[in-house]
Amino acid sequence: MAQTGNFKSPARMDTLGAGAEVSSSGTVPGGKPRETGLKGVDFERRGFLHKVVGGVGAVVAASTLYPVVKFIVPPVKEIKQVKELTVGKASEVPAGSGKIYQFNEDKVIVVNKGGALTAVSAVCTHLGCLVRWEEADNQLFCPCHGAKYKQTGEIISGPQPKPLKQYKARIDGDSIIISKA
Ligand code: FES
Repeated sequence: MAQTGNFKSPARMDTLGAGAEVSSSGTVPGGKPRETGLKGVDFERRGFLHKVVGGVGAVVAASTLYPVVKFIVPPVKEIKQVKELTVGKASEVPAGSGKIYQFNEDKVIVVNKGGALTAVSAVCTHLGCLVRWEEADNQLFCPCHGAKYKQTGEIISGPQPKPLKQYKARIDGDSIIISKA
């Protein structure tokens, strides 16, 4: 039995090379292994299979690595910027205390001094620790390296290079509202 095909086409002849045997009838004798008679054709098939296997491998690798990378690299959260924000209830910051709230990308400490509220960034300008309100010493204190600030954020002493960023805080009804200064 003989295999048939268009073995005389120019593209096929280029693939087969100059030494390839051509049948004038357009047939290849049956029983002859393709590896010896049509080496160019097998190279094409092998190349195609390599591409398919490579493509499948790439898809499998990507689908395996994607969740791993998503797990390792946390998503970037976009914080919506607002001019003012209701952060909590007035009862959460009784006189003589301070409480930290999230406001836009910053953490802000609201201090209640005898009923008057002030708000400054709670992020120490030295290395970023959070300050706390110390009523007895009438100051904001950073426990990391001892930075001290006034209630309004100005520097008292310590290694910090800058004062704390200022905000506004007010009570509306039962709510505490922080706004940009
Ligand atoms: S981080 Fe606050 S004093 Fe160093």
